Amino acid sequence: MDDERRDRWRFRGGLSERELPREDAMIDALTHAERAAVGAAWSTRARAELGAAVVFAMVARTVLETPGPAALHWLAARAPSDELRHAAICRQVAARYLGHDAPWPEPPPSVEPRFDDLPDETCRDLQVIVSCCVSETVANAFLLASRARAEAPLVRAALRELLRDEVDHARVGWSFLAVPQVRARLLGPLARALPALLEAVRVGWRERAREYPERPPPGHGLLAPSETYDVVERCLDETVIPGFAHLGVDVSGAQRWRAQRRSR
Ligand SMILES: [Fe+2]
Ligand SMILES: [Fe+2]
Repeated sequence: MDDERRDRWRFRGGLSERELPREDAMIDALTHAERAAVGAAWSTRARAELGAAVVFAMVARTVLETPGPAALHWLAARAPSDELRHAAICRQVAARYLGHDAPWPEPPPSVEPRFDDLPDETCRDLQVIVSCCVSETVANAFLLASRARAEAPLVRAALRELLRDEVDHARVGWSFLAVPQVRARLLGPLARALPALLEAVRVGWRERAREYPERPPPGHGLLAPSETYDVVERCLDETVIPGFAHLGVDVSGAQRWRAQRRSR
């Protein structure tokens, strides 16, 4: 299938299909430089979504190899194709802002998960946890904050599409951790690894945030770097760490790490 047909304005995915609006007077009202800045940000997102597809292909394998509820297996197996659809949506939004086709992004290399000298099976389990419980939960908070700042119809529609799936991707991790067999083998290693996992995600989001404009044009759903930092910190404090505590993970190490971070 050629790129043009794959990225038609109508996307098919999951159980429904929606159409992204072509007409958007807010985009047309931007200066050339503003359109270029927003378009570049969505191109960056397209590549990040393709990277998420690569990660979720590995996550899906780990989850599918673990006995668990059918709904968990279904969500995990669907996630890589969701992320491909997201990459296509982001690319389409980028093209509308840029005024020309954005290239299909280069797939980033897949990296086998390694956490200290832990056994391979534990590393794969922790990859599910860090990718879903942490990264995707933060991604949800980020997309909600982005949508709260979005007035342009195309961006609002695109963010709604992304959010619809990212919620399920976070659920994959929380549901995986709730499987008794997983809890039995993972609670100890996870408690010890948690501060490093959270720090890795926090640093990753800060690095990505710096690629965005300092003063994005209002109404187009872009957060300034400082706004992204705030969203990430708040999500870790108010959702991610309490979520682990709720599932019986010892979060005392994670809380000490947060206290150290705040005092700097
Ligand atoms: Fe995504
Ligand atoms: Fe996702």
